Amino acid sequence: MKVLGIDIGGSAFKGAPVDTKTGRLLAERHRVEVDAPCPTAQGLAAVREIVQHFKWKGPVSIGFPGIIKGDHIRAVGNLGENWAHLNGAALFGRATGGKVRIFNDADAAGLAEMKFGAGRGQKGTVLMLTFGTGIGSALFYQGQLFPNVELGWIPWRGKPIERFASAAVRKRRDLSWAEWAKRVNLSLGAMERLLSPELIIVGGGVSKKSEKWFKYLKVRARLVPAKMLNDAGIVGAALAWEQPR
Ligand code: BGC
Repeated sequence: MKVLGIDIGGSAFKGAPVDTKTGRLLAERHRVEVDAPCPTAQGLAAVREIVQHFKWKGPVSIGFPGIIKGDHIRAVGNLGENWAHLNGAALFGRATGGKVRIFNDADAAGLAEMKFGAGRGQKGTVLMLTFGTGIGSALFYQGQLFPNVELGWIPWRGKPIERFASAAVRKRRDLSWAEWAKRVNLSLGAMERLLSPELIIVGGGVSKKSEKWFKYLKVRARLVPAKMLNDAGIVGAALAWEQPR
């Protein structure tokens, strides 16, 4: 099946048509920068632009950085509170004139890694983490997704731990890789203690630079960079379309 996958991030919306059988992008991804936080009208226009860029008439499936229940956005991380409690599928559908579904962005990326990437054929408990503006998480047991797991919201000093250890924090605070890895270790430690995964897959832009910081990480689980790198969000959003709801 061919689905337009869109990955909504804290600083840009990215999309491409995807063949869900092969996990391949059918065209080069199109990227639209947005403000942070992102006004609703700007976000809707960004999705419309991606759809128009590909002259897309088919299904559109979106990975969104928040808790998604059915068609609704229940809570939002970093995109802006204005997005909370909206019927996301209906809003994006009206903006594009087509059929749209939405899913949590990290769940989507996890689906792609489990089907085509580092989690392929992996049994037991697998944790997929995405380090970007926030920390996204997706949990799998025997290949099945447990949706809307929000490990970036583990409390740390009264705040969600993603505000202490996300990739955006490393840049903002100008931390060395070693300094930032100490923070990541703290969050991975808490997550391991809660879930005892066999495998942790690390995605997001920083997974491309794993040689710079993986050496500082201390975890019991096997830890690997995401294989699909930046495409996991787009491919996974497209795959999520076929998930039972
Ligand atoms: C949101 C999650 C999202 C993650 C990565 C967090 O702030 O709460 O839903 O998966 O950011 O975008």
